[in-house]
Amino acid sequence: MAHISTSKIVPGMIISRDVKDQQGRLLAPSGQEITTKLIRIFKIWGIGEIQINNVAEPGKEAGDDFSPPGDILKKSEELTRYRFQYNDLNDPFVFELFRISSLRKAHQLWKKPESNPLDSYREFEQAPLQVRTRSKRINPEHLIQKTLHLGTIPDIYYKTIAAINNPEASLNDIAGIVSKDVTLSAKVLQLVNSSFYSLKQKVDTLTWALALVGTNQLMTIVSGVSAVSLFKNIPSQLLNMVSFWEHSIACGTAARLLSSYYPRQMDAERFFVAGLLHDIGRLILIQNLPKEYLGLFQQVRKEEIFLFTAETNTFGLDHSQIGAHLANQWNLPESLGKMIKHHHFPGLDGSLAETSIVNLADVIVNALEIGNSGEYFVPIIEPHVRQGLKLDKEILQPLINEVDNQLEDIFEIIYGIPD
Ligand SMILES: [Fe+2]
Ligand SMILES: [Fe+2]
Repeated sequence: MAHISTSKIVPGMIISRDVKDQQGRLLAPSGQEITTKLIRIFKIWGIGEIQINNVAEPGKEAGDDFSPPGDILKKSEELTRYRFQYNDLNDPFVFELFRISSLRKAHQLWKKPESNPLDSYREFEQAPLQVRTRSKRINPEHLIQKTLHLGTIPDIYYKTIAAINNPEASLNDIAGIVSKDVTLSAKVLQLVNSSFYSLKQKVDTLTWALALVGTNQLMTIVSGVSAVSLFKNIPSQLLNMVSFWEHSIACGTAARLLSSYYPRQMDAERFFVAGLLHDIGRLILIQNLPKEYLGLFQQVRKEEIFLFTAETNTFGLDHSQIGAHLANQWNLPESLGKMIKHHHFPGLDGSLAETSIVNLADVIVNALEIGNSGEYFVPIIEPHVRQGLKLDKEILQPLINEVDNQLEDIFEIIYGIPD
């Protein structure tokens, strides 16, 4: 057995003595495996130290017992370096992201060695390129009309967004619309009471919830739930939807947290929605052009290019432009459409800070492989983005910890519990 600080515990460790709060209430019994959720519970209840099964070799400290072996560290570094090949590792900020990503990968490989993506890369190397896509110019308006025609978005969502964007609608008017939909009302309360807001008291009425956090958070839920419902029929052979939404929700969460470093940009919810919807154009492409899109996945790995570059080569535009068109169709604010449109190349329209935040959030979650929207290589952190945002490398680890912390709650609200 070893005593270990809760700041050093990682998922997978086994508790060797019951963990209780200060009132003696059992939080986790002896023998239970540590999970991310459990770490969060320990933090909430202020548990400083716990006892875990000691698997240490003599002479090693308890915290060191859980560092993956050298060969796994080497393998994960090789793989992460390959995925970061377009980034400048001499930049201290980029290098810190690389270091954290590589260590995270090592823990994944150590825990689940069978899921080694380096091997699946080799499969790609050997497989003949089956679908060679031909250039096929597309019209985004046409694709979006087709998509909206296929999917169903409950009318209540349109009405809610219209009310949020109407300066004359009061909080009571908006609450009145939302309260007509039981699911939407429940989700608003769930979000307000989640780790996303960390409020001390429990909020149990809709008007109170909206008064506390404003109506913008309502847009978060409405756009998230609308987007999920619109694309729920995409077959899993084409894209793992759980993974897609995990990537998108993590990006939204990271963008929202990044925006908090800029006191003048108070509208954190808008960053969440932008992150949540930034890759939605990809779903429109996959749904309408499945065969062509499957070919792109192979092309990306074979030719070592970004998926958005392959999209542009094939369709004449990439998913960011299509996503911006959809945001427009949904009457989302113009600034949101811009953040979606420029999330690969921020600053092109003059609003560098806003678009850079979503861009950086996307790069971070891609690097860490939180979910997956189809991109394999880590997109480039452009020097002008780094310089424009003036962020220090020290923010990365706490930011990533907080994304991990909030992700599960938000995922459950937006996507529901996956089967
Ligand atoms: Fe993207
Ligand atoms: Fe993305």
